Amino acid sequence: MGIVPAELSSTELSAIRGAFLDFVGDPFFQSVAESVRYLPDGLLVLKDGTIADFGPYDQLQAKYGKVKTTHYPDKLILPGFIDIHIHYPQTEMIASYGAQLMEWLETYTFPTEAKFKDTVYARHIAEFFLDELLRNGTTTALVLPTTFPQSVEVLFEEAQRRNMRLIAGQVLMSRNAPEDLLTPAQTAYSQMREQIQKWHGKGRSLYAITPRFAVTCTEEELQLAGSLAAEFPEVYVHTHLAENKKEVALTAELFPDRSDYLNVYEHYGLVRDRAVFAHCIQLDESAFERLSQAGATIAFCPTSNLFLGSGLFPLHQAKHTEHPIKVGLATDVGGGTSFSQLQTMAAAYQVMQLQGKSLSPFQAFYLATLGAAQSLSLEDKLGNFAIAKEADFIVLDAQATPLMQLRNPVPVPQSIEAIATTLFAIMLLGDDRAITATYVGGALTTKL
Ligand code: GUN
Ligand code: ZN
Repeated sequence: MGIVPAELSSTELSAIRGAFLDFVGDPFFQSVAESVRYLPDGLLVLKDGTIADFGPYDQLQAKYGKVKTTHYPDKLILPGFIDIHIHYPQTEMIASYGAQLMEWLETYTFPTEAKFKDTVYARHIAEFFLDELLRNGTTTALVLPTTFPQSVEVLFEEAQRRNMRLIAGQVLMSRNAPEDLLTPAQTAYSQMREQIQKWHGKGRSLYAITPRFAVTCTEEELQLAGSLAAEFPEVYVHTHLAENKKEVALTAELFPDRSDYLNVYEHYGLVRDRAVFAHCIQLDESAFERLSQAGATIAFCPTSNLFLGSGLFPLHQAKHTEHPIKVGLATDVGGGTSFSQLQTMAAAYQVMQLQGKSLSPFQAFYLATLGAAQSLSLEDKLGNFAIAKEADFIVLDAQATPLMQLRNPVPVPQSIEAIATTLFAIMLLGDDRAITATYVGGALTTKL
């Protein structure tokens, strides 16, 4: 997607005025001055779904004075949130009681996912899911459907109807799950090839080769996934890695020739740039170094890790100065307990506190915006208000509830120090109620 040259375009400019916050660097490695951009009164100029101009209102006012402008005087405008790991079929089983990963999969997850054989049902949940993302200010997600090709089709179709940039791909499982959810490796391989041709790069859709995790995949299946990943280097790889101790032990039993869990995926050529590994809790330092060298990404899923009792993700190890790993924030619904990236940031902060570390509000918001875009190699298209990027953004209300009003008496402070305090309160106290509006491709999707 690019900007249509002015002389060819029949569409008009429009603009948004308000307080804008985004990132131009990485607040884990750069100072606030270098990484955070805050315009207490800014103007975002839109054209054909992309950003045509951006800057302080007083500087752009003369040039765009006649452009139709929507003004949000007491609100904060941020890039849309990006959720880099979420399961759409698990929407309806969020908050299922009392189990850790392997029992939770057997008891709740697999029976729920079996329902997605029914296309009508799958579409109904896909629609609910995408609308729920938008209600929560999430404009892009890396999504797992199920092993049924129809569950992939309806998700892409509904995402396209909403003009959302979305990444997904058929879930691969050929063992260690109920029979009705298994697909023979060769069949899945052919289905994936067709889906890549049909969906990857069509509109805003992108494809991900998605072996669920090593436990449910045979060697043949991982080998086929790896050869597809080599054939289509611009397609994503998406899976789970080292979430839970029982899962790690079972993987070691199933793949006795591999040196560790990550080595299973390495062996089949699945660890590379554009490969996203959810969780990565039970990994040693060598695995972190190898993920860094490969240019792979970790999805940090704090609400899920707490809910399923999986453990505490060592974000500080991933953000190591010598071997940094790309990390994006993720809800992992339905293991995760909220669609809200604000609630997910709050959990991330608490996970770091439990490890004697911290997470600044700028770092937290970065992980769900520019950092997430970089973790998906989409920083040329998404993540901040740079000119020519796609115009996905959200309008945040720092006073969305009586308690938030009390805590944030000034909704839009002027200084960057003060905005840090406001953002921290928003991420701890906020949820979908704090999302006043969500814009996708320059168009408003939620009610004002
Ligand atoms: N590992 C394999 N499948 C899943 C899943 O659906 N959720 C989570 N949290 N972990 C998994
Ligand atoms: Zn998951």
